[in-house]
Amino acid sequence: MKKADLVIAIPREIQEGCRCVAAIPQTVKQLTSRGHTVLVQKGAGLDAFYPDGEYEAAGAKLIDGANALYSAADVVFKIYPPRHNDELSNYELDMMKEGATIMGFLSPTSDVKVIEKLREHRLTGFAMELIPRISRAQSMDALSSFSTVMGYRAVLLAANFLGKFFPLLMTAAGTIQPANVLVIGAGVAGLQAIAVSHRMGAKVEAFDTRPAVREQVESLGARFVEMELPQDMETKYGYAKEAPEEFIKREMEAIGARLHRTDVVITTALVYGKKAPLLITEEMVRRMRPGSVIIDLAAEQGGNCQLTIAGKTVERDGVIIHGPVNLPSQLPFDASLMYSKNIFNAFNNLYAGKDDSVDLEDEINANALVTYRGEVVSKTVRHYLEDKK
Ligand code: NAI
Repeated sequence: MKKADLVIAIPREIQEGCRCVAAIPQTVKQLTSRGHTVLVQKGAGLDAFYPDGEYEAAGAKLIDGANALYSAADVVFKIYPPRHNDELSNYELDMMKEGATIMGFLSPTSDVKVIEKLREHRLTGFAMELIPRISRAQSMDALSSFSTVMGYRAVLLAANFLGKFFPLLMTAAGTIQPANVLVIGAGVAGLQAIAVSHRMGAKVEAFDTRPAVREQVESLGARFVEMELPQDMETKYGYAKEAPEEFIKREMEAIGARLHRTDVVITTALVYGKKAPLLITEEMVRRMRPGSVIIDLAAEQGGNCQLTIAGKTVERDGVIIHGPVNLPSQLPFDASLMYSKNIFNAFNNLYAGKDDSVDLEDEINANALVTYRGEVVSKTVRHYLEDKK
């Protein structure tokens, strides 16, 4: 098989609440112009505002039903991890032909069934979440794309809940002070939340355990909360390491000391592969004024606030605590556009050779390939499987 012969399939996502699609018509055009055949499940892009007609115009063939689509594909472009398709009473990976490839978030270190199915059908599984955070992989970094959307949406959600303006206003009725926003965790989502809050006119403070972030926080117009930071808080790939208990205690004191004058808290603190650190207790929430808002972007990983319930809005003494889930689907057009570019770039890197073979020495492939033709490749996944024994 030559590289240009690949049949690429874009299914409709079946994850509850998902409105995004793995590839948009513009990407389809790039794929077809390189000689690939692209199959798109009817209605796959509708919820993200990409109608079937645009896919056809880009050279895709529309396919009715997931079974016909999956079984014809050499490569499937997905967003959410494969699971059981209740409509078809079939597991998504069971519909794929032996030796084919699936690219997407695969949850390989939390869902062992995915690995079992990849092995059973001798599939190649490329996990978007395992792409290393190196400069060369920035254009493939779907985690950053979705985090950007999350940071932006968090601010809009906060503004909707808050009974105050964000900007300073000089009105005939007097001067209105700007809202005070505190962003905890200044990774990709946190930095976006800082930038958007600042542009909306709020006074922004932010904090992160990685000292390298201070400069980025300040360059976006926010104040970095002063605290003595522990040494060596970053992994090789720029992720935070788990902070010592003693430090978390001091951090909670620093956060607690400013809550009485904070209108909006946006929490984004995460440590890769761990439950989100608890940074705001119920007692700390009581120090906030009624009408204040906490948007907990770590909700899906257990939450940074003790009162957070993922997917719910909780009110405690007039304070609103919102734990959003599936935020990319609140901005499906652009979230899909960004993801589509990421997966296209990852695909080009995976199939960079003359035929459909894959360079397993390439750092990106070696990290992100859960399996290659049924054999486990990723060290992270191997460790996970060994730990499970
Ligand atoms: P993340 O989503 O894993 O974590 C969010 C933030 O929470 C991080 O900034 C982390 O330092 C912070 N955090 C953890 N514990 C905390 C605590 N107790 N208190 C306050 N903050 C805490 O991180 P994300 O956004 O996925 O990226 C982290 C970093 O990875 C980036 O800032 C960057 O250095 C690196 N990166 C590199 C890329 C590349 O070169 N391709 C692309 C994207 C990120």
